[in-house]
Amino acid sequence: MLSAADNELLTRTGPGTPMGELLRRFWVPALLTEEVAEPQCAPVRLTIMGESLVVWRDADGRLGALEEHCAHRQASLYFGRNESRESRDGNCGLRCVYHGWKYDIEGRCIDMPNEPAQSRFKEHIRIKSYPVAERGDVVWLYLGPGGSIPPLPDLEWAVVPQSRRFVSKRLQYSNFVQAIDGGIDSSHVSFLHSDARLWNPDWTGAKNSTRDRLADDGAPKFFVEPTEYGMLIGARRNTGDGRHYWRITQWLMPWYNIVPRDGDGPISAHAWVPIDDENCWAWSISYNPDKPLTKEQTDHYRSGGSIHAEATPGTYVPTRNAGNDYLIDRTLQRTVSFSGIHGIAMQDVAMQESMGRIVDRAKEHLGSSDAAVIAARRRLLAEARALAEAGQDATVSGLDPLQQRVRSASMILPAEVSWVDATAESRKASEQHYQYSS
Ligand code: FES
Ligand SMILES: [Fe+2]
Repeated sequence: MLSAADNELLTRTGPGTPMGELLRRFWVPALLTEEVAEPQCAPVRLTIMGESLVVWRDADGRLGALEEHCAHRQASLYFGRNESRESRDGNCGLRCVYHGWKYDIEGRCIDMPNEPAQSRFKEHIRIKSYPVAERGDVVWLYLGPGGSIPPLPDLEWAVVPQSRRFVSKRLQYSNFVQAIDGGIDSSHVSFLHSDARLWNPDWTGAKNSTRDRLADDGAPKFFVEPTEYGMLIGARRNTGDGRHYWRITQWLMPWYNIVPRDGDGPISAHAWVPIDDENCWAWSISYNPDKPLTKEQTDHYRSGGSIHAEATPGTYVPTRNAGNDYLIDRTLQRTVSFSGIHGIAMQDVAMQESMGRIVDRAKEHLGSSDAAVIAARRRLLAEARALAEAGQDATVSGLDPLQQRVRSASMILPAEVSWVDATAESRKASEQHYQYSS
């Protein structure tokens, strides 16, 4: 459980809040590149940590991220005209359609057609612009103080060749910490995502898949190892023959995780980014560091398979949602699916949204399997407090790209072996993917 005051500190991310200030020290995965793929495309409107923004690609192909509202009388630049050099002032820019003020990607007002031609008023007008970058099919924004812009994160999924990665995002109607909590809680995998048949004492089918191992021991012991970038979470299950099945999830500051894969298949990763305090973007990434994804795999992801969600066409809003109870199927629940809800992503969402927009953590009863959840919350709270106390000069952990070159792992190990040592090599991201990245 968490006190009401700590829960406030943990979940509030608007400008000026301690957690908001901490999160703003990190690059934010903000849009899929596909949303602003073409020069002179339509601007995209988005909210990140309570700040309304508009992101657009000008006719020269450069990305701009501006505060959403025009300096004149606050109309939304989302409705703006994305103009090329062929326009009346001869520059690329985003022109407000209310009275025609026009801005470049740095937020400078470059044309003010409703003022006299000799007026110099426009030279004094500038709206907020944010650093923006592209990597790994994602448009990243930096919303923090100008003096401390870190390098882009070196997450392995973001640097592998495009053919080895599939990235999706979906809207989630809850605070971002509920999603983080779910992402590092390996314990629920034995239940929420499991096959109902494994829970039938008469089940005689084969039992050697990852799923079976997870269901075989629903009470894993959790071990947490703090690191510079976040923490290693070791979930230890008994295999029944005296050995241990280890699943090691990586949690990276401030909102990333990486989940173990099966064999040499794709690795799953996530990011959970606050839209405001009651909504977040859930990013899901399937990537294989060793080989391209197959067409079957990407087709599967696109149709809402694995950790991805089926969305209403033209949106990032899941078709299964609270309004239709995630299309829970009670027959399925009795027979083959523990939850009765289709798809891993929506199983997670149903649980996380069902807690309410911001869960009251004072009502929780945390047990030993919640060790990672407790540790991540503590880390975020401690870092936010330290930053608030030390002010602008504080160093924030988790920003060193070299430290971020990690991946998850799973392994069956003899009982006497150290899980940290035994998995050290398999937790390293492949160096080959970083040769050309900056
Ligand atoms: S509100 Fe944008 S030009 Fe008037
Ligand atoms: Fe899950």
